[in-house]
Amino acid sequence: MTEPIAVVVAALVLVATVVVPWLRLPLDGAFRQVFGRASVVVVVAAVAWTVMVALVAVFAPAVVMPAAVVAVVVVAAATWRARRLVGGRHRRPPGSLSVIGSIRALAHRDAYQLDHERYGPVFTASQFGRPVVCVVGLERGQRLLRGHRHQLGPSPLAFTDQVMGGFLRYMDDDTHDRYGPAFRLAMSRPVTDAARSIAFRTVSQELAAVTTQAEHPGPAMGRVAQATLMAALFGLDVDSPDGEVFGAVNRRFSRRTVLGGHRRTTGALRELRTLVADQRRRLEAGDVDAVCALGEFVASDDDLPDAVCVDNLLFMMRIGAPNLQGLLVWLVHLLAANPQWLDRCRDDNGGPEVVDGFVLEALRMAQSEYLYRRLTNDVDFDGLHLRHGQLVRLCVWESHQDPTVFSEPGRCTDRFVDQRFSQSEFSAFGLDNHACNSVGLVLMAARTVVQAVAADPGMELTPATGLTRGMRHWSHWRPGDDLRWVRRA
Ligand code: HEM
Repeated sequence: MTEPIAVVVAALVLVATVVVPWLRLPLDGAFRQVFGRASVVVVVAAVAWTVMVALVAVFAPAVVMPAAVVAVVVVAAATWRARRLVGGRHRRPPGSLSVIGSIRALAHRDAYQLDHERYGPVFTASQFGRPVVCVVGLERGQRLLRGHRHQLGPSPLAFTDQVMGGFLRYMDDDTHDRYGPAFRLAMSRPVTDAARSIAFRTVSQELAAVTTQAEHPGPAMGRVAQATLMAALFGLDVDSPDGEVFGAVNRRFSRRTVLGGHRRTTGALRELRTLVADQRRRLEAGDVDAVCALGEFVASDDDLPDAVCVDNLLFMMRIGAPNLQGLLVWLVHLLAANPQWLDRCRDDNGGPEVVDGFVLEALRMAQSEYLYRRLTNDVDFDGLHLRHGQLVRLCVWESHQDPTVFSEPGRCTDRFVDQRFSQSEFSAFGLDNHACNSVGLVLMAARTVVQAVAADPGMELTPATGLTRGMRHWSHWRPGDDLRWVRRA
């Protein structure tokens, strides 16, 4: 027979071991602000667990004691695993593998910066308990990428399975040697120049549609990104009949998650492939005269575009549009938060280099965050031993906050207007042969938005009060949902 007092103690242990660590999440103000719903779920689950333990203690007291022992063992094992690793004889990068700590870190933009201060420039972080080797400092990152190129492979997201030949970013070296340079040629300067007029027209239409009803600029920036990429990649004008059809199917396709579960959108992908084939025929026959990446492939001597090129163009649209939209929203937020830039960027007051300087500062402060790779072999690096299979995160955003390179890194300054930074100091678009092939296009769209917003005298901007993100370590940070633009009455 179990003593009632022992049952009560065991029940309290069961509640304390399970509930207390998780309550760190809703008790954390930043976590509550970014993940309000998840905080509520944790509290509800904690209450449910406590009630369940109380009921078990009343109706099946014999179960409580062994369950408490199991809970203590599990928590002790988790605490052991989460302990701060120190190099030791295995020369592991130091760090903590706490699962709850890693979930809490999702809500703190400076989480990796703090780990960097605590453990040094190469450390182990936890992403939901999975160890990830983090590297801060672009020069260090370059050394790792270049010195161990053959021991570092891609860390692909699930969507790449659906791309014929794989997505460029995740292609093996041989395949990438064939397609990477071809895509760089196809994303040529004339392609960017040709897309500029559609980008400008779409931004102007979106600004003209802003009313005295305050709105988040996100959806408008999404349409600007879509229109710009459709023009640049496929030579389709979003307002033409062909463009409208393509846009509608692409919207269905864009519901596809990048994590897998593609069944819902496979039909849309098939339809898009057919629409691209139609556009290719029009380009070959000279029925349309659009300068675009698809057209550059058609005009090249290669036997491209093949199915790999077509799928990659479609997935560049799928992945690139939200990326570009994210940058455009950041630009509006930073203009709102730093209104002196509105004057400076108006009609190129200080010359085009002022607008470019603002865009680069936005990339540094906001949009360039990380590069991921996976170790395909053990590697010795800077006195540490990195193991086969581990994920490596090159912390680009944290490297861009280095106060020895960027004084007052948290401030939006004009440092890029008259200062040049080397690639080991500032690198928003990648560090190796997988660097972004759409830099010119991205900068063009960004400039177009900044100039148009700055030139609109009736526009009133209110910055977001906080930042937010999705619940993944690779989710990008973005301005909070209370960012607004509105036309002055
Ligand atoms: C805010 C805008 C953008 C930023 C900051 C950005 C940044 C980057 C970075 C850092 C990489 C290197 C990834 C790695 O090494 O793992 C990359 C690669 C790439 N980006 Fe972008 N990107 C942006 C927009 C776009 C857009 C709009 C497109 C498509 C039109 C695009 C297409 C690509 C492709 C295809 C690659 C892989 C290239 C290759 O492996 O050959 N990016 N980008």
